[in-house]
Amino acid sequence: MKVTVLGAAGGIGQPLSLILKNSLPAGSSLSLYDVNPATPGVATDLSHIPTDVKVTGLAGTDPSVALDNSDVVVISAGVARKPGMTRDDLFNINAGIVRDLVTAVSKVCPNAVLAIITNPVNSMIPLAAEVLKKAGVYNPKKLFGISSLDVLRTETFLAELLNYKAGSLKVNVIGGHSGNTILPLFSQVAAAADLPQETIEKLTTRVQNAGTEVVEAKAGAGSATLSMATAAARLTMSIVRAKLGEPGIVECSYVEGGTEYARFIAQPVRLGVDGIEEFLSWGPMSDYEKKCFDGMLDTLKDNIQKGVDFVSK
Ligand code: LMR
Repeated sequence: MKVTVLGAAGGIGQPLSLILKNSLPAGSSLSLYDVNPATPGVATDLSHIPTDVKVTGLAGTDPSVALDNSDVVVISAGVARKPGMTRDDLFNINAGIVRDLVTAVSKVCPNAVLAIITNPVNSMIPLAAEVLKKAGVYNPKKLFGISSLDVLRTETFLAELLNYKAGSLKVNVIGGHSGNTILPLFSQVAAAADLPQETIEKLTTRVQNAGTEVVEAKAGAGSATLSMATAAARLTMSIVRAKLGEPGIVECSYVEGGTEYARFIAQPVRLGVDGIEEFLSWGPMSDYEKKCFDGMLDTLKDNIQKGVDFVSK
């Protein structure tokens, strides 16, 4: 199994690579690429950790050697937002970075499963899909937008509120990965059944603003890196475990799932040896969740169109 991280020397890339070095199955390769000249040094640093995962690092403008023979590629490259910015404000700077990296993936390892962290995720995944399509290698079952941090946050905040063990509650989070497009489905969680509606709405708003909560707390020094790396590692490891034959792994991810609501949407998917085995239904919604869902669709569709237009222009 070869996993490649593009943007590996960055704020998310380094902790993500650290978690992968400590989690990938014995015999795996972990390939790090970044424009940052420190990347081979990051690989050397990780190589001193005693796990049976071989780490290599490449810096420069061409990721081809790092991508060669990759089974899974994770893109964390790009710029983070500062206080006062939305994720969408990052589009102009990050779109070219993602386009170029996905173009390299399409040439060097077109069969790899590709997962993207770079914001704005709602637009970057459609953009990546169009790049892959243009190259004639697009498979919607192999392209993931990482929205797992919304799931982690939802499960953390709910468990804290209810005094449950951290990590013990499972919640579907659907829609997209920004503002009101993030929709946790608390109505499906038995433990949350007795929560007053006002509390549910406050919790929903907190999840929707949680990225901004971190951006403001870091006061100009960037956005979530450590929790994002943890979330990305969770999805990456689920993809890897499924690839190795473990059955029944389900994750929420921003994908092209063929729903009638929007071309791309975050929804539960069952993973398999070739990426997504099945796009799953997200189940019932409360009236409040349905209202939130209907209210987000125009924004989501605009975000999707922006990514598509960038490639077709
Ligand atoms: C997050 O959710 O923390 C990330 O998408 C980073 C951001 O800008 O909010």
